[in-house]
Amino acid sequence: MKGKKLIAVAAGAVMAFTLAACSGSGAGDDSSADATTSAAPAESNGGDAAMEKGTIGVAMPTQTSERWIADGDAVKAGLEAEGYTVDLQFAGDDIPTQSQQIDSMITNGSQLLIVAAIDGTALSGQLEAAAAAGIPVIAYDRLIRDSANVDYYVTFDNYKVGVQQATSLLVGLGVLNADGSEGDAEGPFNIELFAGSLDDNNAHFFYSGAIDTLQPYIDSGVLVVPSGQTDIEQVATLRWAQETAQKRMEDLLTSSYSSEKVQGVLSPYDGISRGILTALSNAGYGPTIADGMPVVTGQDAEIASVKLINDDVQYATIFKDTRKLAAQAVAASLEFLAGATPEANDTTTYDNGVKVVPSYLLDSDIVYKDNITSLLVDSGYWTADEVASGVAE
Ligand code: GAL
Repeated sequence: MKGKKLIAVAAGAVMAFTLAACSGSGAGDDSSADATTSAAPAESNGGDAAMEKGTIGVAMPTQTSERWIADGDAVKAGLEAEGYTVDLQFAGDDIPTQSQQIDSMITNGSQLLIVAAIDGTALSGQLEAAAAAGIPVIAYDRLIRDSANVDYYVTFDNYKVGVQQATSLLVGLGVLNADGSEGDAEGPFNIELFAGSLDDNNAHFFYSGAIDTLQPYIDSGVLVVPSGQTDIEQVATLRWAQETAQKRMEDLLTSSYSSEKVQGVLSPYDGISRGILTALSNAGYGPTIADGMPVVTGQDAEIASVKLINDDVQYATIFKDTRKLAAQAVAASLEFLAGATPEANDTTTYDNGVKVVPSYLLDSDIVYKDNITSLLVDSGYWTADEVASGVAE
C-alpha cells in the first residue's frame, strides 16, 4: 500500500517478534513531528493549471494511525490529478493545531476544505469563517458537530461497523456462526468492552451498533462483563490511544480477574486492540487464540493487526476501504467546485446537533484469517508479503 513508508518504519520497529514489543507507540510514533504539512503553497507548487483551479485544504487528524496517512495521500493524489493544488496537513492529534491549520487554509484562499476532525465539536469558529468566505466544507470519515456550515459528509455506515465488530466477537466465541446463524457455544463467556474517543462522533455509532448486538446475549447470561463497565463513558479511550487501552486492560485484569479468565474483548480499532493484546500477553494469556488468548476484535485492517490475525493472535478486524472513501471525497469536491450538489445516499442519519448533514455512506467488511487474501490481498490493499511481515512497504 502506498504512502506508508514512514509509518512502516515505526511499526516495524515496535512490532518485532513478540507482542510486548509493540506495546509502545502503536502503529506509529506519536511525536510532535506528527504535526506536518505535505504541500507547498500554491505559488510554488502549482503550475498553470493548478494556479487556475486553486488550492484545496485537506486536514487530517494524525499520522499515528496509518490509515490517515493513506487517506491524506489518496485525496491529495486524486485532486492533483484534476489539476488542483492540495494543502494537506496532519495535526498530531492536537486540537489547537488542527484549528490553526484550518484557519490558515481559509486565509490562504483554499477553494474547499476536506476535514477529518480530531474533536468533532471544536471547529465551529473555523467553519463559520469558511462559510463567510464561501468555502464548501466536506466532513471526512468523522462528522463535524454543532455547526450549520458542514455541507457534506463522506463516511462508512458507522453503526453497521459496530454491529460487525460485535458480530465478529460472537463468531469468535462460537455463539454465532460466520454466516450469522446461531452457533453451538452457550457460554457463559467473560468479556470486556472498549470504545473509542468520546469527542469522535464515530465512537458513539460504533459502540451503539456493538452494544445493541451484544445486549441480548448479556441479558440472557451468555455474555458476562465481570468489570460491570458497559457505559460508553466507562469504556471510552481518549484519542483512540494504544497505551491508554493497554493500561485500562491491565487495570481490568487486576481488578476483575483474580481467578477468572477473560475470553473476549470488544475493541473498536486496531491500535486499541494491540494495546489490549499486549496487556493480555504480559499477563500470561496466549500467545495464540488456541493457547487461550481471548477473542479480540478491531477496525481499520492496519497491517500490524492483519499480521496478528494471520498469526492467530487477534481474531478479526473491520476493513473500510479508504481508497473508496478518498475517491468519494474527491468526486464530491469536484461537484461542489463546479457549483453542483454532490449525490448523498443518506439524508437522515447524521444529525450534527444543528442539522442533518447530507451523507454518502460506504460499506465495510469483517476480516477473519480465512478471508485476508480475498478481501485485502486480491483487492491490492495489502500484498501477501506485507501480511506476512506486518510492515507496509
Ligand atoms: C475513527 C475512524 C476509525 C479509526 C479511528 C481511530 O474516527 O472511523 O476508522 O481510524 O478513528 O483513528
